[in-house]
Parts: sequence; structure tokens; C-alpha cells
Amino acid sequence: MPIAHVLLVTGIASVVSLPWWPEWTGWDGWHRSLHRVGATVFLATILGMALWVLRSWRSGERTALERVVRWIPRTDVWLVLFGVDLLTINGAILAPPYLPGWSWLVPGAACFVASGVIWGLVLMPLQRRLVETCASGADPDPLLRRWFRWGAVALVLPLVSLTLMLTRPG
Ligand code: HEM
Repeated sequence: MPIAHVLLVTGIASVVSLPWWPEWTGWDGWHRSLHRVGATVFLATILGMALWVLRSWRSGERTALERVVRWIPRTDVWLVLFGVDLLTINGAILAPPYLPGWSWLVPGAACFVASGVIWGLVLMPLQRRLVETCASGADPDPLLRRWFRWGAVALVLPLVSLTLMLTRPG
């Protein structure tokens, strides 16, 4: 089950990040913790799904690939959007001390928004076409290559956000 794979990656990411976990108590501690939960679920789901699709693609089993691509929109709605909600709501609550003006927060949030735009304009339509192509028995390889290329960009952008949020340059 792809969902098991995603939960495994999320679990490993959560355990590995535990030593850096902030205090849960207090207003800031609570929102920082939820922001981190959002970042973990968001990144682990994207990575987990990409690995799962790659595995099914390389196995050459079309039925397995068809099943996995059907899971992409579901994990987007249930897990990726859940992470996005936590990131944006708690990020917005924590933002006022760093605004107005220029800080690491501006490019950090901008990279996240750019990733969302790529997801909405390119990846979502590609995913819909992938499901249809796999179901029709046509060759999904060109679409998969495009999905991985754009997916890599959509993953690197929030990783840049993460780096900026952790290092806070300037
Ligand atoms: C709308 C987008 C976002 C906003 C407005 C936002 C806002 C913030 C703010 C204000 C902080 C500083 C919290 C504080 O210590 O007071 C922060 C920290 C952080 N952000 Fe974001 N963020 C956003 C997106 C992201 C993304 C996409 C990631 C990673 C995938 C991320 C990961 C983190 C992490 C790991 C921290 C450090 C938390 C800590 O020190 O406990 N954020 N963010």
C-alpha cells in the first residue's frame, strides 16, 4: 500500500528530527511544533510517493503502477494538503516578529508558494493524465518522465525554504 510507504517515511523523518524538536509548551512552542509537523508530513509524503512511483515504474508491472498513480491525488489531498495547512497557518501566526521588511522569511515563503504554483499548474493536470493513460493501457513513460522532472523542482523549492528557515541568514 502506498499509504504505508508514506507513513513509514513520515515516521522515520519524525524520529530522526526528535532531537531538534522545540518545546511544545507556550504559544510559540505550540505553533513551532505544529509547523514542524507540517514540514515533516509535507516533505515525507512527497518523497515517499516519489519513491513508491519509481519502484512501481522500474518493476515494469503496469497494474502496480496504475494502482500507485491512483494514490497520488489521494495522498495529495489527505497528507500533502494537511502539511500545507499546518505550514501556512502556523507559519503565518509565527511570522509577525519577522515582518515587515526583508528577511529570510520572504524568499522562504516565496519558494513554498512557487512550489504550490507548479503543483497546481503542472503536476495536478499531469497526475490526472497519468491515471487516464495507465487505465487506457497506453504508454505512461513520457508522462512519468515529465512528472519526475517537475516533481523534482517542486520538491527542491520547499527544501530551499527549509534551509532558509533553519539557517535564517542575515
Ligand atoms: C507560507 C509559508 C511559510 C511561512 C509563513 C513560514 C514561517 C515561519 C516562521 C515565521 C518561522 C520562525 C518561527 C519562530 O521561531 O518564531 C519558521 C520556522 C520554520 N519553518 Fe517555516 N514557514 C513557511 C514554510 C515552511 C516550509 C515550506 C518549511 C519546510 C518544508 C518550513 C519549515 C520550517 C522549520 C523547520 C522552521 C524552524 C522551526 C523551529 O525552529 O522550531 N517552513 N517558519
